[in-house]
Amino acid sequence: MPSSPRPPRFLQACRGEAVDATPVWLMRQAGRYMAEYRDLRSRHTLLELIANPELAAEVTLMPVKRFDLDAAILFSDLLPPLVALGLGLEFVKDEGPRILRPLRTVRDIDLVPCPSAEESLPETLAAIRMLRPELDTRGVPLIGFGGAPFTLAAYAIEGGGSRGYDRARTLMLSEPAAWQRLMKKITAFQADYLTAQAKAGAQALQVFDSWVGVLGQAEYQRYVAPYNKQLFAALKKTGVPVIHFTTRTAAYLEDVAADGSDLLGVDAQLPIATVRNRLGWNKPVQGNLEPLALLAPWHELKHRIDEVLDGNQGRPGHIFNVGHGLVPSTDPDAVARLVDYVHERAAVSR
Ligand code: CP3
Repeated sequence: MPSSPRPPRFLQACRGEAVDATPVWLMRQAGRYMAEYRDLRSRHTLLELIANPELAAEVTLMPVKRFDLDAAILFSDLLPPLVALGLGLEFVKDEGPRILRPLRTVRDIDLVPCPSAEESLPETLAAIRMLRPELDTRGVPLIGFGGAPFTLAAYAIEGGGSRGYDRARTLMLSEPAAWQRLMKKITAFQADYLTAQAKAGAQALQVFDSWVGVLGQAEYQRYVAPYNKQLFAALKKTGVPVIHFTTRTAAYLEDVAADGSDLLGVDAQLPIATVRNRLGWNKPVQGNLEPLALLAPWHELKHRIDEVLDGNQGRPGHIFNVGHGLVPSTDPDAVARLVDYVHERAAVSR
């Protein structure tokens, strides 16, 4: 085994252990803001990149080669499992994802199959196996990921992105038994898919519950929490840390934190000190710089980074990240400066 050139800060912080500097990675760290990504993307569609293990591995490594990041995130997307579930998927230019056969009736829901992840998403698992040796030489752990049951169900019913996911919420409220059957199927598939990623070599897993914040607390508790609990209980068996990322859930953050994940990923809705006080400092947290702050001049960006780090007070169990994905107009030089500053600042304060 090659010796690790850096301390495994990311995994230490996931376990709530002390670190030499705050670990940092960024959601959507591989993407359109990088010229090398746009170049590859001009020759392949997004779904081609995802379905080709060599290309998916190459994109995963792009930000790791360019910035001093403490973790890599597998290059894929949230939505390929919907292809495995027979719903079809395309990405429409300037519009985003479109589900070709959205679930509109109870019968549609009952016809959704239960395939195995190993059979239906083998390219993603192959990309993970391919990436580990290269990442191990660099001492950079690999994060696998998948969608949380609500966020995937919302896309499956709505047929694409939506402001309030009204169609999905209407089905949830008017056909609760069918909703439960759908959530059960998606939970089973995602548990299998994420477990397969850990077996293939992913050293942590992030579950994206990106749009669950459209729900109120009672809806979350009744229609979503039981499935998140099932999913996190199943993923405990993998032995790798599991990050639950949500946005706009400040009204019921404690409920989200109680569902059995190891860490909570938080958006920029609340200061990090408020989040940690509410959850208790033993629950590790990831976040939560406003991603648009990267578009501001350096003195302002630096101030916003300081706010996050000061809010955490140098305590263990914090991974620095943006509160939501980097936007395409982000300057890569701002990313480089951010990553180096997070490491330096924390080193000085100890
Ligand atoms: O973070 C990473 O670097 C890993 C790769 C990754 C992508 N999507 C690549 C991608 C991850 C973790 C995702 C997750 C994802 N995908 C989410 C959850 C994250 C979040 O924002 O909360 C969601 C909601 C999706 C669905 C999705 N994929 C949408 C709505 C879009 C279109 C919007 C947009 O930004 O264009 C995508 C496309 C997508 N997924 C891109 C990338 C790099 C842009 C791809 C391109 O056109 O080249």
